[in-house]
Amino acid sequence: MGKPSVRLSPYTLLYSGKSPDGKSHILSSAQYLQKELPVRLAHRVAGFRSLPFIVGCNSEIAEIHELYIRAFHILNSVPPIETFQQEQQYTRMLSELLDDFRNVVTMLAQGFKDARKYMPPGSLKQFLDSTLTSRLGIRLLAEHHLALHGDKPNLVGMICVSMNLKHTVERWAEFTRDLCQSKFGKAPQVKISGHVSAAFPYILQPLDYILPELFKNAMRATVEHHWDLEGSELPSVHVTLANNDVDFIIRISDRGAGVSHRDLPHIMDYHFTTASLFYGDDDKQTSGMDDFVSLANPGASRGPMHGFGFGLPTSLAYAKYLGGSLRIESMQGIGSDVYLRLRHIDGTRESFRI
Ligand code: ADP
Ligand code: COI
Repeated sequence: MGKPSVRLSPYTLLYSGKSPDGKSHILSSAQYLQKELPVRLAHRVAGFRSLPFIVGCNSEIAEIHELYIRAFHILNSVPPIETFQQEQQYTRMLSELLDDFRNVVTMLAQGFKDARKYMPPGSLKQFLDSTLTSRLGIRLLAEHHLALHGDKPNLVGMICVSMNLKHTVERWAEFTRDLCQSKFGKAPQVKISGHVSAAFPYILQPLDYILPELFKNAMRATVEHHWDLEGSELPSVHVTLANNDVDFIIRISDRGAGVSHRDLPHIMDYHFTTASLFYGDDDKQTSGMDDFVSLANPGASRGPMHGFGFGLPTSLAYAKYLGGSLRIESMQGIGSDVYLRLRHIDGTRESFRI
């Protein structure tokens, strides 16, 4: 439990992602994971163990705790990986574990929805921030290893060698527009300007989580605030991209009336949501945007999220973990500007470690 984890820079992952014989890097990657994952999983188990007893009794929380204990035992009892056959077995196991853990975020949101009343807000936030970001790191390393087996042109493991920022933003804008359209029968246009030809190495996974969360908020606010307008009349969501040597910034501006003075201090709190108020949901903590939210997390990697008010706090925790920030400026009565700032992985300075 006391062992420190060895965090790697994305730069290291990128440059250890190939080898002259085309395969020895896969073996080294498995050997690194074999040492590293049990340490990180042990830290997670220790985190669950330190929760107040009554919180740990919650069925969802107990279930996640069990999952981590089980994963720790499985990965800690693997004999040293020396052959490619052993590596293949290990990779298969890892892929199964990734799948077993796919609903952890939803389970955490659900479990703590009830159990959070037994914890001071500060320690709840600390627990969720560290559990979610450590999980992001664990999954990125595991997915990187699995992806090293693939042979996609623009990818080294999970690292996209040349990520086109505008295309990435556009993809999630379109995706969220479709959801918004099917939920409300209308959706605002998204206009993108600024450094629209920027392309650089980056990791898509965190953006695949954060961008739909931010677009969902901007689009919901727009539609709700202009309920009487036709789809074609809705004010567009404007995205501005900025890229420089150190970091890149995505600003998402909407005309959805902003966040009220009363709500603003709470929007980065886990479980804070106003979605239910609008939909007259009996349960104040769940969102009327269920399908919106769950569809926005496709694939096994992040599982569905049911509008538990996890979008902003989780995105903030991820952005900080990646050496960046997430800030929201509300012009009450007009709209919001959300600034997502992330550091380059090949920047001139040390960026962050996974
Ligand atoms: P959820 O979307 O499940 O409610 P989030 O954490 O993403 O959870 O957002 C929390 C709350 O912050 C929302 O319920 C909403 O009240 C407010 N909010 C977030 N983004 C915006 C925005 N662009 N415009 C207005 N309100 C927003
Ligand atoms: C997680 O998704 O939280 C994990 O820890 C997955 C890992 C056991 C491969």
